[in-house]
Amino acid sequence: MRLGHIFSVLLLITSVGARAIPTEGHKLMISAPNPYAVEVGRKIALQGGNVVDVAVAVGLSLAVTAPYYASLGGGGFALVKMKDKVEALDFRETAPKGTDKTYFLNLPSGSSQNGAHAVATPGFPAGLYELHQKFGKLRWETLFADALSMAKNGFAVSGAWVKETEKEKERFNKAGLKAFFKKDSLSYQPGETLKQPGLEKALTLFKTQKLKGFYEGAVARDIVRTVESGGGKLSLEDLKSYKVRWLKPLVTEYEGHKVYLMPPPSSGGVVILGALELIERLDVKSTALLSADEFHLLGEIESRVFRGRSLLGDPDFHNNPVAFLTSDSYLMDLQKSIQPKKATILKPLAIEDVKEHTQTTHYSIMDSEGHAIALTVTLNGTYGSGMVSENYGIALNNEMDDFTTKPGEPNMFGLIQGVGNDVSPGKRPLSSMSPTLVEKNGKVVMTLGAPGGPRIITGVLQALYRVLGRGMDVDAATQAPRVHHQFLPNTLYVDQQKFSPEVLGALRARGHKVEEAPMMGKVYIVRLRPDGILEAAFDSRGEGGAGGI
Ligand code: DON
Repeated sequence: MRLGHIFSVLLLITSVGARAIPTEGHKLMISAPNPYAVEVGRKIALQGGNVVDVAVAVGLSLAVTAPYYASLGGGGFALVKMKDKVEALDFRETAPKGTDKTYFLNLPSGSSQNGAHAVATPGFPAGLYELHQKFGKLRWETLFADALSMAKNGFAVSGAWVKETEKEKERFNKAGLKAFFKKDSLSYQPGETLKQPGLEKALTLFKTQKLKGFYEGAVARDIVRTVESGGGKLSLEDLKSYKVRWLKPLVTEYEGHKVYLMPPPSSGGVVILGALELIERLDVKSTALLSADEFHLLGEIESRVFRGRSLLGDPDFHNNPVAFLTSDSYLMDLQKSIQPKKATILKPLAIEDVKEHTQTTHYSIMDSEGHAIALTVTLNGTYGSGMVSENYGIALNNEMDDFTTKPGEPNMFGLIQGVGNDVSPGKRPLSSMSPTLVEKNGKVVMTLGAPGGPRIITGVLQALYRVLGRGMDVDAATQAPRVHHQFLPNTLYVDQQKFSPEVLGALRARGHKVEEAPMMGKVYIVRLRPDGILEAAFDSRGEGGAGGI
């Protein structure tokens, strides 16, 4: 290694900042977006609850303590292993029946992000219920205790809660201002108590009447009335007919492990699968750790695998070229196109090129026997559409923006999407959410995932590479600097304040258009170490907690 090289690596490492050792346990561990969630989950585990019981209770608690991304008005995905195989649950929101592919063309710009038109049929409550029905051990009602108590008696809002809520203030409807601000729209301060009596009632109805308590009856009417008041199309029929679906995960081998990934309508699995394959083929782990060489290759790989994303959509509506995008010959072409010292960009991939016959959050929970869940839930943007249901205080998603609403125009994550992802009644929008499970010798040894739009994919990818390819512990892997390239725009985003000027300079010298940006892909991860100890970590780029028993 040249002296300059050693120097830049050292500089980079010193700029990484403090990190903790991973939190350890021997029975069941949780990595989640706030300490309340960890405490609620721990209590359920101590009562004899299994991994899914813990996951449901954590989800309900987040609906109370982190409504900006985990409200009942959102949706998501989970990978879960409770019996002999890994299964994928899709509880993603669906387009209301009254929408179609021309729906947003004649609406004012921003309509897929703000207000009633943006709202898709929520799936989170149905997802939690399905998980419990299939795998739960404790009684459904038991899982509500802490969420209900925090809604009724209040909880101390965190700095992150205040920040997220304050920055969306302008977008809230009246009910939102009432639910999340004091009288006269005064903001709460960190540490002050927030009570949510409306949400307590909605949770009670969900507890006692199960799916009907949310998807039919008073809560459903409240949601529909709220959306209708803003001109949106979500109907009682949309809510009543909402269904989750079980999907077969994608699976690949990486560094002697089996990696289970989310299939479409997530794009995450296809993109990560291709990237892991290229990381191995290009032997990225032989580059100096955290060097320009390493980040250059990671960026070039990301840009290439992201290119195929625009060909994907909901598998019930669109023929996804997954076999093509993960084929040996396609990946070989991508591999050959990467130069070690020079950044290059490929031409966009069109559907004709396919030579084939055909504000989010995440939590990870795992026990020492290999039962595990990785669950990502989202409202899309922070507080979703800004619409909050009038009587029950449920924040409603803006997931319609994840569709190709106006062909050729970027969505809120700068993603330019394809025709397979156009709006259609009952369809799920393409997602980047990437809950992931890793097995070794038939036993789950790691569970992870992240929020962050397309940065989810590159966050999960780099965490997998750092732990499995580089042998880092989960905390080091999670906090390590990351790069993100999503093909369009042709920009290599690098973690703000985590890269030394030397590495930035070296990347620019190779032709990368480098931009420092916050890496919103906050990773939540639990791993079973070879010594039988569970270790958990959360990403210090945001709020979180890790703990268990
Ligand atoms: O499903 C998706 O890809 C997006 N709705 C996720 C949004 C997200 O992660 C926002 N988080 N910071």
